[in-house]
Amino acid sequence: VFSSRLPPSFAPNRLTVAVSSRKRPFLDLTLSNPTLASLDYTEGYLGALANPVARIYDPDPRGLAGARDAVLRSYRRHGVEVREDRIVLSASSSEAYSWLFKLLANPGDVVLVPAPSYPLLDALAGLESLAVHRYPLDRSHRWAVSAHLVAHEVDSLKAAGCRPAAIVLVNPNNPTGTSIDRDEFEALLDLAEEHGIAVISDEVFLDYRFDSSMSSIDVAAARASRGLVFSLGGLSKAAGMPHLKAGWIVAGGDQTLTDDAMARLEWIADSFLSISTPVQVGLDELLNAGAMVAADIKKRLRKNHGTLCEVLGPVPGIDVAPLTGGWSAVVRVPAVIPEEEMVLRLLEEADVLVHPGFFFDFPFEAFLVVSLLCPEGVFREGTQRLAGFLERL
Ligand SMILES: Cc1ncc(COP(=O)(O)O)c(C=O)c1O
Repeated sequence: VFSSRLPPSFAPNRLTVAVSSRKRPFLDLTLSNPTLASLDYTEGYLGALANPVARIYDPDPRGLAGARDAVLRSYRRHGVEVREDRIVLSASSSEAYSWLFKLLANPGDVVLVPAPSYPLLDALAGLESLAVHRYPLDRSHRWAVSAHLVAHEVDSLKAAGCRPAAIVLVNPNNPTGTSIDRDEFEALLDLAEEHGIAVISDEVFLDYRFDSSMSSIDVAAARASRGLVFSLGGLSKAAGMPHLKAGWIVAGGDQTLTDDAMARLEWIADSFLSISTPVQVGLDELLNAGAMVAADIKKRLRKNHGTLCEVLGPVPGIDVAPLTGGWSAVVRVPAVIPEEEMVLRLLEEADVLVHPGFFFDFPFEAFLVVSLLCPEGVFREGTQRLAGFLERL
């Protein structure tokens, strides 16, 4: 009776089983929920949801004009101009992906996603009856996007008779933090135009770019004057408010193509009307309060990354990637035992939880991924235990 779009098995992985069967407390260096990270949210920020204007339900499929304007102004704070009529609001960036997949792809088409990267794309694409095909990031450039490597995958898909419908960028990437270089982006647009493929740039970590050099792309949709490019953002990371459920899509590229895309996207959004009125009415205030939360988060990410370098730096054979973007840090460790065994033993022997690199599709072992969002005290203690464990290994 069930759809084949769902996974054939829901069996939890070994790490999930180990965590759920534990009796002793442990230090969680995978924490990615900002509402549980002891951050200082402005007193009463939820008051933004109690505006009496929100009593009236008068939806606009693209999102209320005032809310789209709030998004536009948040981009302006980054020095980026986007057009209000090129914005569509959704309940989250995950939902935004699903709308874009409906817009761009037919069942059986293929979505190109980076590896290593965030694993959510498999589920989102599968739910739209799409296949995911990974393109490798350039390991010699800290896992940056190389248009040449993407082109190779597009060619092999086409040779196999598949239709690539979208190229996904995660910019900055989760967990490697790398943003796409300007020249690579232009080369990617050439490729996308040549083959009629849209580009989806997941920019949920836009506010956490530590390497904001002029040569990397911040908001892809605003930087493209050809092809069809979508940038994704959301309250979840921009304001540390995943519980309020607001995301957005910004479209850009060729004028006519973008106009067509917006008309279709509006139709899709109209079928759901999923973002709530109170969050739209309060969006400007939430984004303003959230800018302070984001500033606090940024401070913490820097501090914890410093701790990571200080504590793990002296351990032989360990490489801590520089802080370039996002909320995670990637640590390369000697592959003396398989990653899975390493994280299970770390949990058992040192009461510390980290993620193994294979969760993020690193092409070889061994990598560990830690969240820099953890409260500083927990983070320091956790990394000290991790260092001790690695030294004993
Ligand atoms: C790269 C990336 N994209 C999208 C999401 C999902 O964000 P949202 O809460 O807006 O669905 C996450 C969440 O961690 C993420 O890391």
